[in-house]
Amino acid sequence: MPLKSCCVYITGLFSLLFLILGISLVLSSVFPHFLESVVEKEVVLKNGTEAFKAWENPPAPIYMQFYFFNVTNPMEVLDGDRPAVVEVGPYTYREYRPMEQVNFDSNGTKVGAVNPKTYIFQRNMSRGPESELIRTVNIPAVSVMDKFKDDFIVANLIASYMRSTGTGLFTTHTVGELLWGYEDSLLKALRNFEPDLDDVFGLFYKTNASNDGSYVFFTGQGNYKDFARVDTWKGDSSLNWWTTDECNMINGTNGASFHPVVTKDETLYMFSSDLCRSIYAVFEKDVSVKGIPGYRFSPPSEVFANLTVNPANAGYCVPAGNCLGSGVLNVSVCKQGAPIIMSSPHFYLADEKFVEDVFGMRPRKELHETVIDINPLTGVVLQAAKRLQVNVHVEKLASFSQTGNVRTVVFPVLYLNESVVIDDTSSLKLKTVVTQQNVVDNIPFMLVGVGVILGLIFMFLMCRQKIPESTEAERQPLLSS
Ligand SMILES: *[C@@H]1O[C@H](CO)[C@@H](O)[C@H](O)[C@H]1NC(C)=O
Ligand SMILES: *[C@@H]1O[C@H](CO)[C@@H](O)[C@H](O)[C@H]1NC(C)=O
Ligand SMILES: *[C@@H]1O[C@H](CO)[C@@H](O)[C@H](O)[C@H]1NC(C)=O
Ligand SMILES: *[C@@H]1O[C@H](CO)[C@@H](O)[C@H](O)[C@H]1NC(C)=O
Ligand SMILES: *[C@@H]1O[C@H](CO)[C@@H](O)[C@H](O)[C@H]1NC(C)=O
Ligand SMILES: *[C@@H]1O[C@H](CO)[C@@H](O)[C@H](O)[C@H]1NC(C)=O
Ligand SMILES: *[C@@H]1O[C@H](CO)[C@@H](O)[C@H](O)[C@H]1NC(C)=O
Ligand SMILES: *[C@@H]1O[C@H](CO)[C@@H](O)[C@H](O)[C@H]1NC(C)=O
Repeated sequence: MPLKSCCVYITGLFSLLFLILGISLVLSSVFPHFLESVVEKEVVLKNGTEAFKAWENPPAPIYMQFYFFNVTNPMEVLDGDRPAVVEVGPYTYREYRPMEQVNFDSNGTKVGAVNPKTYIFQRNMSRGPESELIRTVNIPAVSVMDKFKDDFIVANLIASYMRSTGTGLFTTHTVGELLWGYEDSLLKALRNFEPDLDDVFGLFYKTNASNDGSYVFFTGQGNYKDFARVDTWKGDSSLNWWTTDECNMINGTNGASFHPVVTKDETLYMFSSDLCRSIYAVFEKDVSVKGIPGYRFSPPSEVFANLTVNPANAGYCVPAGNCLGSGVLNVSVCKQGAPIIMSSPHFYLADEKFVEDVFGMRPRKELHETVIDINPLTGVVLQAAKRLQVNVHVEKLASFSQTGNVRTVVFPVLYLNESVVIDDTSSLKLKTVVTQQNVVDNIPFMLVGVGVILGLIFMFLMCRQKIPESTEAERQPLLSS
């Protein structure tokens, strides 16, 4: 009898202990914090770690897809009509981008590397072969005309040369030529006056299998938030402003790694050498990729907004004070003076006027926004799509009859979608981590649960203990008689 009641009281005591321990652990969130600190220490660029392997040679396939805008009414455009375009694509390339010439500094806080990208055409993921023809704005001609428009003598010479060769505002070339380069006769002729000029033009000319300069990254040692963050590019640390003319138009993305333990109120900075600046993204919604929970980050509309909405964008009006409007960025300085304007595909998030100026523009959030889905605990990129459109600023030039009566317009040429989805091997590994996270996160709740169950048992035993006492008392005389 005393042994029995002793057990009952111990049950009660344990119930209380479990409840106190469980509730205080839930309230203090020690377990999630413990897990986070483990991950923060583990995710660092160091020879031999998983994070380093994935950074050095991304295991998931990266695809670069191009969509061209084929011009259907060139004659009418020269007469002052609104341009009409048809989107054709995708033309898909698999992108390989290993880190090379990797070298750590002596104390392991920084790592230098170059990041060459190689593009291999994927016919089975493309609309047609690279030999398909696209009619679009003659970018070399527009650039040359724009450059010499105020020099009447030279302009006249060039104009008559263009007339003699039949060079106009529009040109037809294959997909392969437009992307990777073709010899342009006008540029070739100009070379007689400017021997330094390259007579090959292509939107991605010289980018295949070559690197865009040396990077220095933080390894994340010391501060996990710095994991894989770009410190300097070509020795320049003022990355978020494009004051240098070192920048280049479309040499590819960088910075597809994010630090672990991402929170919803965080602003993520992504460095993009395309835009010669870093752009930022904010939390949009919770997502699930291959069963793994993630946070979706995307650039907010303020990133692209005009000065009225976001005065901080004044630095992107070039030359100073010359603002084109929301959603378009003049990257002329990055492209040897060529009048190139970047935007989101179909002028998504740009002023309505850009969409209305070109027949065939249909901006849609789900197709045309840039997104990154990140697993918050580990900072692993689950899925990402970088989407950008290349446009040319076209206007009527008095000195060049080739421009006819063309309207002033931001003329779309192509847009790209550089995307990646986590590979199955990595996603399985990550799933294990996520399951562990769930278990560890739930330990305090399990303790509370055990406490509650023990409490119920305790109460049940207490009641049972009382009832037999009375029945026994009644039985006693019965037995003795
Ligand atoms: C990493 O370690 C391996 C073997 O220990 C070595 O061959 C390799 O050069 C190291 N890499 C770097 C970037 O230090
Ligand atoms: C690591 O080395 C760099 C120079 O290579 C130095 O600037 C930095 O302070 C060092 N950091 C630590 C934590 O020792
Ligand atoms: C890029 O270079 C690689 C190897 O140098 C080559 O196999 C591939 O065809 C090239 N891609 C393009 C689009 O030219
Ligand atoms: C683009 O338009 C030109 C001219 O109409 C046509 O010849 C060409 O086949 C079109 N390209 C594609 C891929 O549809
Ligand atoms: C990008 O590509 C161009 C050639 O189109 C090249 O001149 C330039 O050095 C490359 N890299 C950068 C960072 O501009
Ligand atoms: C700036 O953008 C807002 C919203 O898109 C628009 O209402 C406003 O007219 C724009 N301002 C200028 C100066 O373009
Ligand atoms: C774009 O910038 C260049 C140089 O910074 C400038 O000359 C040009 O006029 C700008 N284009 C437009 C359309 O504002
Ligand atoms: C890339 O984006 C385009 C639209 O912008 C979409 O049609 C295409 O399916 C996307 N590609 C991938 C691989 O997600």
